[in-house]
Amino acid sequence: MRCFESLDDWRAARAVLGMTRIGFVPTMGALHAGHASLLARSVAESEYTVLSIYVNPTQFNDAGDLARYPRTLEQDLALAESLGVDAVLLPRYEALYADGYRYRLDEMTFSRTLCGAHRPGHFAGVLTVVMKLLNLVRATRAYFGEKDYQQYLLIRDMCAAFFLDTEIVPCATLREPDGLAMSSRNMLLDTAARALAARFPELLASREGDDKVADQLAAAGFEVDYVHTEGGRRFGAVTVQSADRRVRLIDNLSLHASEVVTP
Ligand code: PAJ
Repeated sequence: MRCFESLDDWRAARAVLGMTRIGFVPTMGALHAGHASLLARSVAESEYTVLSIYVNPTQFNDAGDLARYPRTLEQDLALAESLGVDAVLLPRYEALYADGYRYRLDEMTFSRTLCGAHRPGHFAGVLTVVMKLLNLVRATRAYFGEKDYQQYLLIRDMCAAFFLDTEIVPCATLREPDGLAMSSRNMLLDTAARALAARFPELLASREGDDKVADQLAAAGFEVDYVHTEGGRRFGAVTVQSADRRVRLIDNLSLHASEVVTP
């Protein structure tokens, strides 16, 4: 496994790979089994797998959230190596944003809803960094988790809108045994907040309407950003108080009968 901190070095290595079938998994690190499932799928389906680990500042609308974002590089690299990843990109801000973020990619409708309504600028930061990374890697396929379903849809449609050749592959959400979707932010939860967090997917899956579910989440102790059903999928975002910090959790699930998880 080769690590690339320099984008020039990566571009030289990429040139040699030519038409190799490349699978790509972009992440912000603090890797868990959800990330590992994307990497394992890429390794199984590709000749060469690229992982990127980059905590992208332009998608954080809250400086405290960025400062607290977990960083576990050594363990991440050990996990990547054990899964058979071939290359890890570890770019620096100065190289990735040599333009100082003068140029950015935005979407004007769907990105303004759900998480976008609560995190101004978030999806412009995501789409811009993903476009940069997709252009650097030129993968055959790139893998994204359904855990971040709005992000997946926005990236899929961006690739279509800009005629990118990379196929965007959605991957099922991996959950803890109690139903909580795996997330790098879960490691910021203390014991009480972690116990409460399991009620989030449970209530989200209920047969009640969105407003009722929002009330139930609030009564359980969450601060509710939104609960909204669209296209047969229910999306939710909540915040939990954990020790001296607030941790935001998002989740979504298909409400088609066969997929509803009954607690
Ligand atoms: P990050 O939160 O690190 O997630 C990287 C990828 O792992 C995303 O595609 C995400 O949906 C997926 N993922 C996270 N938790 C998952 C779970 N429990 N099951 C399955 N997949 C899961 O999403 C980002 O980083 C960033 O926004 C990024 C796309 C890298 C741009 O900066």
